[in-house]
Amino acid sequence: MGARITTRPASSDRIGVAASRLPGLVHRTTLATMGRPLTVPGREAALEHAAAIVLRAWREFDRARESESDVGPELSRLLQASLPEQGVDAIVGLDHAAGILDASIAQSRPRYFAYIGSSALEIGALADLLAHSYDINLALDSKAATRLEEQTVRWLGQFVGFPAGGGHFTSGGQLSNTTALAAARERALPGSRARGMGGVRARIYVSAEAHYSNVRAAEMLGIGADNVVSIPLDAHRRMKVDALAAAIDEDVASGYVPVAVVASGGTTLTGAVDPLGDIASMAHARGVWVHVDGAYGLPAAGTESRRHLFTGLDQVDSVSIDAHKWLSVPKACSAVLLRDPTALALTFGHHEAYMPHEDDVRPNTVDTTLEYSRPVRSLKLWLAFHVHGAIGFRESLEANLGHAELAYRLASGRDAFAVLPHPPSLSIVPLRHVHPGCPDVDAHNDALYRAMQDDGRVYISPGTIDGGTWLRPCFTNFRTTDADVVALLDVAEEIGARICPMH
Ligand SMILES: Cc1ncc(COP(=O)(O)O)c(C=O)c1O
Repeated sequence: MGARITTRPASSDRIGVAASRLPGLVHRTTLATMGRPLTVPGREAALEHAAAIVLRAWREFDRARESESDVGPELSRLLQASLPEQGVDAIVGLDHAAGILDASIAQSRPRYFAYIGSSALEIGALADLLAHSYDINLALDSKAATRLEEQTVRWLGQFVGFPAGGGHFTSGGQLSNTTALAAARERALPGSRARGMGGVRARIYVSAEAHYSNVRAAEMLGIGADNVVSIPLDAHRRMKVDALAAAIDEDVASGYVPVAVVASGGTTLTGAVDPLGDIASMAHARGVWVHVDGAYGLPAAGTESRRHLFTGLDQVDSVSIDAHKWLSVPKACSAVLLRDPTALALTFGHHEAYMPHEDDVRPNTVDTTLEYSRPVRSLKLWLAFHVHGAIGFRESLEANLGHAELAYRLASGRDAFAVLPHPPSLSIVPLRHVHPGCPDVDAHNDALYRAMQDDGRVYISPGTIDGGTWLRPCFTNFRTTDADVVALLDVAEEIGARICPMH
């Protein structure tokens, strides 16, 4: 089998020779590519070259670089070129690709603290190369790869402490949340996937600082953004359970159907974890589905130091986890896990003429997923767990939690910074630079994060908290060190002091 898909020397290429005898089918290039114009010529050398590029990048990512590299004139010319009719040599092409990536903002670098970064775990990148080379389609029952996805779902549930009866991997938190909410909608309103929402007024409940993907899911599911009820926060920026109960009871009395509560397992703005156990008991007493959006924070449920924040996780109906965030594997790799996976088949099972379906002995996974064609995204997490063990992940997560504590402690101890009144729950540490010469602290911090991005030594993004502008570093990178955390504060202080007289 293997020999049939291996490029042979031109003289032994049976397809090439056969094709060359056919009038009008003689290819312009070498016999080696005869009949296979998209096989990489000299692919062994190309693979070695790609490996060398990857190794160089990994070595470079081990340490921070002093500035971001620019898109110079040569790269600009390349990026403005029109569609080439003739290709270049693969080695030259690979060098061009590497040059483009090198002049891009890479989340893999240890001083990337913006948004919620992934960090392209090395074994995960290798797994992607393997997975993409085999290019298996998980829309179908793909034998071992399908079993691997099922096993990885179980491992992930075990890691965070959620009794996953089933689930699958998706392209991201957006799709995982949408999948869970689609299942919740079908449970609250059986048949709504077929009939539509009609005049039914349905509702979803989220904390005031929940991720927007849940609102977008409500829009796509016909529930409507206006029917996403934003529940106020307590002093630690967590959803208030009494306000949630009151909102559900009032809605039911007014004829609304509560579809789901989305509890945050780490908000994107500050890392707050909603009280999952209290929410689950209250919502379940009212027959309402509880989904945990743990796209960012849920891996922390697997750590010794933060497990307590997720008490009650074992009671909820579904969870989302982005392995491409705090489990460090390359994008795109999220998972939606359900306590009772039958909800997925009820939501997504379907029939059409061109593939066997759920009544088959081995149902195709497309009957339980929103996506159709799907790569084996789980391979990168499976291989990462296989190679590093759960213990490796716990250590890396604890290290990031330590970075957050260090940042909070250092910022609290310096006059130049203000921090939130409570230490970080997870690994996001909002802070702002305060300078006596800058009375408008919001305008100053807005200018500061931009100046820091231009400077390029650290990469940071802002956040709006209670109407004010904050710097919002997030520590999710397995390459980050304590020295990188110190550098973040030093650079912010240095640039903050420097730009102050400018506005
Ligand atoms: C809490 C939360 N949910 C959902 C998402 C969306 O995830 P993705 O970008 O993987 O679609 C994010 C992204 O930052 C998030 O932080």
